[in-house]
Formats: sequence, C-alpha cells, structure tokens
Amino acid sequence: MHFQPTLVASLAIALPALALPTSSSASQASLQTAVPGESSLFVNYQGKNTPLAAEYLRAIPATGSGPAGADDLLFQNLLAAEWAIYSFYQLGAEMFDASDFPDPYPNTTYERLVQIRDNEAGHVRIFQDQISNNSVTPGPCQYNYNETIQGDPVSYLALQVFLEVSSMAFLTGLINQASLNISKSALVAIGQVESRHNTWALIDAWDVNPFSGPSDTIYPYPNQILDSTNTFIVDGSCPSINPIYPDPRQNLPQLSFNKTGTTGTPGSEIQIVFKQADNQPSFDADTDYYAVFYHGLDTISVPFDTSSNTTTIPAEFDKEASIIIVNIADEKGAPTQESVVAGPLIILEQPGDLTLEINTA
Ligand SMILES: *[C@@H]1O[C@H](CO)[C@@H](O)[C@H](O)[C@H]1NC(C)=O
Ligand SMILES: *[C@@H]1O[C@H](CO)[C@@H](O)[C@H](O)[C@H]1NC(C)=O
Ligand SMILES: *[C@@H]1O[C@H](CO)[C@@H](O)[C@H](O)[C@H]1NC(C)=O
Ligand SMILES: *[C@@H]1O[C@H](CO)[C@@H](O)[C@H](O)[C@H]1NC(C)=O
Ligand SMILES: *[C@@H]1O[C@H](CO)[C@@H](O)[C@H](O)[C@H]1NC(C)=O
Ligand SMILES: *[C@@H]1O[C@H](CO)[C@@H](O)[C@H](O)[C@H]1NC(C)=O
Repeated sequence: MHFQPTLVASLAIALPALALPTSSSASQASLQTAVPGESSLFVNYQGKNTPLAAEYLRAIPATGSGPAGADDLLFQNLLAAEWAIYSFYQLGAEMFDASDFPDPYPNTTYERLVQIRDNEAGHVRIFQDQISNNSVTPGPCQYNYNETIQGDPVSYLALQVFLEVSSMAFLTGLINQASLNISKSALVAIGQVESRHNTWALIDAWDVNPFSGPSDTIYPYPNQILDSTNTFIVDGSCPSINPIYPDPRQNLPQLSFNKTGTTGTPGSEIQIVFKQADNQPSFDADTDYYAVFYHGLDTISVPFDTSSNTTTIPAEFDKEASIIIVNIADEKGAPTQESVVAGPLIILEQPGDLTLEINTA
C-alpha cells in the first residue's frame, strides 16, 4: 500500500460535529444474544463500541473431537479474512467521527461506515456459527491499517474500496470450495452485501460510476488472495490456537507494481515488483513465464519478461471498471494453482484516481 498525503489539509476544515443519530451503547445481554437477521446491532447500530460480545471476540477452541464439518475449513479461512475486514471498520468507527468527512462528502459518510462495521460484525457471527465445535474457530489478530492510512480519512476511504473489491474476488472463488449448497448460497448472499458497500462508496465517497461493468472479477485460486491479506496482519499477533491462514497456504511471493512509467490501466506497460525481500521468485532461464490477467470473467495471458519484470496490461479490457488481477505463472493461462509462481496482485481500476495510489512501489 502506498498513499500520498492528498486532500488531508483541505479536509481539516473545522466543522461543527454533525448531529447523527447516536444510539446508546448496546447492553451486554443484547450483545450476547444478538443473532444476525434478528438484531439491529448488525444493521444500524451507531455506537463506537463493537457490537460483538467479548465471548465472540476471541478464538474458540474445539470442544468436540469428532469429524470436522463439511465446510469447516472454508469458514475458518473466511472467518480469518472477515476478522481483518471487520477490524478495518471497527478501527474507522473508533478513529473517526462525522466531522472527519466534511463537504464534499455526504453528511451520512461516517454513519454509513459504521453501518458497514455492523454488517461485518454480523458476518463474523455468521461464519463463527458455521464452524462445527469439532474445529477451532479463529479469533482476531492485530492489524496494521493505520500504518498505511496514518489517521487520514481520505486514505481510509481509498483502502475501503480496495478491501471491498478484494473481498468480492475471494468470495466468488471460495464458492468453488463449498461442499454444502447452503454454504454456496450463503457466500453469494454475503458477497452481495460487500458489493453494496462498494457501490455506496463509489457513489457517495468517490462520485464515479457505481457499477463494475457486467461482471465483477473472478479469480480461480481464492486462497492466494486470502494469503495476500496477511500483509495487513501484525506479525505474531494472532491467537496461538488459530489455524494457519489461509489453509492450504502456498506462501507465494507477493507483488506490487512500479508506479513510474505506467498508468496501471489497459494497454499500459507495467513493471511488477516482488515486494518481499525474503520471498523472491526464482526464475528458470529455460521456462517461459506469463503475466496472467483477470478482469470480469475474462482471462488473458501476456508474456512476462523476467529480465525487466515487465509486461503489458491487455488493451482489450474495459477501462475504469472494477479491478484487474494479475499473477505470474509458468504456464499460459495459469491452469493450475501450482502453475502460479507469484501473486496475485489486485490493481484497482475504479475509481481511476486510486489506481496509482494502491499497491504501488
Ligand atoms: C445532511 O444533508 C442533507 C442535504 O444533503 C440535509 O438535508 C440534512 O439536514 C443534513 N443533515 C445534517 C445532520 O446535517
Ligand atoms: C457440539 O455441537 C453439537 C451439535 O450442534 C451439540 O449437540 C453438542 O452438544 C456440542 N458439543 C459440545 C462439546 O459443545
Ligand atoms: C493512527 O495514526 C495517526 C497518525 O500517525 C495517529 O495520530 C493516530 O493516533 C493513530 N490511530 C490509531 C488508532 O492507531
Ligand atoms: C446441491 O444441489 C444439487 C442440485 O439441486 C443437488 O443435486 C445436490 O444433491 C445438492 N447437494 C447437497 C450436498 O445437498
Ligand atoms: C521504477 O521504475 C523506475 C524507472 O524505470 C526505476 O528507476 C525504479 O528503480 C523502479 N522502482 C522499482 C521499485 O523497481
Ligand atoms: C526482477 O525480479 C527478479 C526476481 O526477484 C529480481 O531478481 C530482478 O532483480 C528483477 N529485475 C528488475 C529489473 O527489477
């Protein structure tokens, strides 16, 4: 992640605090018994305190020793990802208030972010309840978002868009891992809500086309996207009983891109940067490598020059729509998970103003 100090100074205009409806903090009893679908805590609660009761804010050991539920592994992975997303919004709820989002932002901006926090807390509870008591229920870690956003509301909104489109990309992929039909439907239903969050942001925060084009971008190896979210976790901060995340984990070299000499948009040359000093790819001189680009339902492979680490974003893709995902593979089209040697990288195309602000080196 990389942000320039942007409109921070102009945003620091002193405005009177906007009078948002602030509901009183929820009582402990109502927190404990709150069920998603039956509680306004997961819809429009405006308190700064988390809507989650203490007993749900931790890892929960397995209490049984029978076989794992059919989709336990899927929901363990997803819950670990959800802790990262929920924690981002809980941070925003605590760190900001309505006056941090003055004109030109609608005066409902903070209220909406807190509502999204509520929805994400509901996702935490839903995923917890999907994991059988024969499996560990992962708990939250600590996250380093503020290292990127540095308390800046505009940077926060930028990261918000990125996290929402990323979660669409892994939710659609995880459907392929679900055993139970009800799990597949649940993933679609949750993905719809993440998409609403993104739509809201594109309209209200960024004033751009709220739609992603005809399809969101799908990616066949969702655990690779989950793995890339490890970048937000403070090393060593996860509960000791948490399972490895994601499981299975390939631990592929992570990517960013060089913002010099590119627009990051279709048709533009792009230099891939392998951003982890201790996790670099090793390229074989006799192998042809490809940058495999994903956009909507489309996949296009382009030769990857390992001497310069450059390739060209396919000019065929539509502009200023959704995201473009790219990985580096040793087979055209990256037909298997194992053929991916690095990545993936999510390039945010919408809003276009953020393309060179996120994931650049
Ligand atoms: C928010 O803005 C709308 C118009 O955009 C206005 O009608 C409303 O009074 C404002 N609310 C507050 C709390 O300032
Ligand atoms: C585990 O869950 C099952 C089914 O939900 C329940 O019947 C059982 O009592 C639980 N066991 C423990 C040890 O919590
Ligand atoms: C976030 O970073 C800003 C700037 O460094 C700092 O002032 C603020 O206290 C931090 N907030 C949290 C919750 O860490
Ligand atoms: C899922 O739905 C399909 C189509 O209705 C059905 O054939 C299949 O048996 C269902 N699978 C499970 C595990 O219920
Ligand atoms: C980005 O590209 C510029 C110009 O080609 C080059 O000077 C710089 O070293 C590159 N940065 C990285 C991180 O590779
Ligand atoms: C390309 O990436 C490889 C693998 O990490 C690295 O050794 C090499 O220095 C990079 N080349 C350029 C021009 O950045």
